[in-house]
Amino acid sequence: MKTFLTYDVKKASEVVKRGGIVAFPTETVYGLAARLSDPMAISRIFEAKGRPSDNPLIAHIGAIEQLGMVAKDIGPDARKLVHSFFPGPLTLVLKKRPDVPDIATAGLDTIGVRMPRDELARRFILACGEPVVAPSANLSGLPSPTTWQAVLEDMDGRIDCILQGDPTEIGLESTVVDCTGGVPVLLRKGAVSLDELRSVVSATRDDGANTDLSVRSPGLRYKHYSPRAQVIITGDDASVPFDPAAAYIGLSEPGRRLELVRVAPSVEDYAKELFEFFRECDRLGLEKIYCEPVREEGIGAALMDRLRRAAST
Ligand code: TXA
Ligand code: MG
Repeated sequence: MKTFLTYDVKKASEVVKRGGIVAFPTETVYGLAARLSDPMAISRIFEAKGRPSDNPLIAHIGAIEQLGMVAKDIGPDARKLVHSFFPGPLTLVLKKRPDVPDIATAGLDTIGVRMPRDELARRFILACGEPVVAPSANLSGLPSPTTWQAVLEDMDGRIDCILQGDPTEIGLESTVVDCTGGVPVLLRKGAVSLDELRSVVSATRDDGANTDLSVRSPGLRYKHYSPRAQVIITGDDASVPFDPAAAYIGLSEPGRRLELVRVAPSVEDYAKELFEFFRECDRLGLEKIYCEPVREEGIGAALMDRLRRAAST
């Protein structure tokens, strides 16, 4: 299969309408889209990524009016979160409509829904004529792609088309919140922080440490976001041992010469550059990546979550 590259939203959406699978940019990471109503195309997403079939996909809507095409019984807390954070980097897990194909949700009766705020993403989804399901557009287990070139690196010959856009603005995947129980529960950290969620629904719980989390958010069970190189979180002083085949990324200088060093000017830049930095290290065949820890507030909490996942083997 030849993967077609285009900057043209209309051409990319036509591929989706014909049953193809198409990568597209969002403000978080690049996604890999198929029509919500097209089980054949959705099964090709799982195949192209090498994704376990028990890991559900997120439905992406281009306008609030499309929410009712995906979910039902949307409660008052979920409505408040929609009102405050859509469009944006927040996924809400809601009761799914019965006509949503089982393959999209891995058989669950719930579905994650997100409305990206990226302009190109929304134009693309609307041009597809219905919501699309989309996981991150990487091979399963590798870091999510934040550039179209990273998508091509993983997916060339495996998907029909890439809608080329800019590098993504945030660089980490969306915050995921389960709204199907009594109170909203944070399942995955992202750019919308727990504090921001609580400023809208104060009872929102962080179940990050809950052992049955993997049951409710199946994706968290799998190893994620990992480069081939070993990821090591440094001490607070960013001290790095002598190691010529190593790389470093952080907010402060590592105090040692290494093969590849990235000092980010802010936590936001660190988050935005992390996954591409991981990929760069793998391209160079480096063996270790030292990462400086950051304070767990705002996007820093999501960044630390991804660093810990990448560092755990
Ligand atoms: O920012 C993002 O969310 C990106 C862009 C493309 O929108 N998408 C993304 O999708 O990261 P993916 O498939 O790589 O991660 C989706 C996460 C997984 O951890 C999955 O298990 C969880 O959301 N999830 C999806 N549907 C769910 C559901 N019904 N219940 C619980 N967790 C769900
Ligand atoms: Mg993913």
